[in-house]
Amino acid sequence: MQSSQPAKVQQAPHRNRVTINDVGPRDGLQSQSKILLPTERVQLIRALLAAGMDHVEVGAFVSPKAVPAMAGTDEVLAGLTNFNDAVLTVLVPNLKGYELATAAGVKSVCMVLYGSDGMAQANARMSREQAEAVTTEILIRARADGVRVTSAVAVAFECPFDGPVDPSLVRDITGHFLELGTDELCIADTIGVANPQQVRALAASLVDQHGADRLSCHFHDTRALGVANVFAALESGIRKFDTSIAGLGGCPFAPGASGNVATEDVVLMLERIGYDTGIDLDGLMRASELAKNLCRSEFIRE
Ligand code: COA
Ligand code: ZN
Repeated sequence: MQSSQPAKVQQAPHRNRVTINDVGPRDGLQSQSKILLPTERVQLIRALLAAGMDHVEVGAFVSPKAVPAMAGTDEVLAGLTNFNDAVLTVLVPNLKGYELATAAGVKSVCMVLYGSDGMAQANARMSREQAEAVTTEILIRARADGVRVTSAVAVAFECPFDGPVDPSLVRDITGHFLELGTDELCIADTIGVANPQQVRALAASLVDQHGADRLSCHFHDTRALGVANVFAALESGIRKFDTSIAGLGGCPFAPGASGNVATEDVVLMLERIGYDTGIDLDGLMRASELAKNLCRSEFIRE
């Protein structure tokens, strides 16, 4: 006899879901010459979380002499203890950064790899291979510590010191660190010089080889191609992006780098073309206003 109960519908995975990780509180604020107080940084991060964001890069454990704006990241974290559902990541450039981060209770770190030696030296005073060795060590420790690791390949398309980066190098680094078990591998156009054709080619080959689950992309808007590059990566299968509220950003160690692609531009585009970000645009615009007000003396993008 047939049951009158309707058959259980199998929930399909949400194929149109795109995850946005706002890096404004780190990549954005590190390049503003107005240094925010930890309480102001907490206010901005809370505004992002209130808009429905569930991935935020909240700071960095780096030398306060190298990046004064990121001093006090431990205080920022102390102001965010009631957000256990969100993935709050901090950037670390070396083992000392990893140790400081885990001592502060961090459960998600982003360690930087490089497409060139010039950038590795400028950013972390290491060779490209040294940064890879440190990342390997961090992955081993993180597994034991229960910490999530994003490995980000900085200057994945072009380096301001060494010039164009061979895509096969980026493919090798990506394959190697995915095999070592990094939770996420982020392809970063640190200085914002990639074009959509390059992005499409690299992203498609990486998704082809590894699937999209652990891949993400990070674009800067230096030449106004940030949204176009997001679209190219999206069409190649990438479903996670770093963006920055109000387009804040840059890199103090990469000449020519300007702001990250703006979160509100990317979310608007994604929602308009039928993707789901889980983010409320009105809330995002409030966070954007707050970011502009907090950084107002320096902010030029209107
Ligand atoms: N966090 C905090 N302090 C750190 C640190 C870290 N992760 N790593 C090193 N330091 C401290 C050292 O303890 C030392 O302190 P002291 O001067 O009081 O003794 C000082 O920084 C210099 O250490 P050293 O190992 O000689 O490093 P360095 O001068 O070669 O600088 C970095 C290397 C990596 C610390 C520095 O360049 C840095 O923090 N870069 C971060 C760059 C960045 O955030 N870029 C943007 C993101 S991609
Ligand atoms: Zn960046």
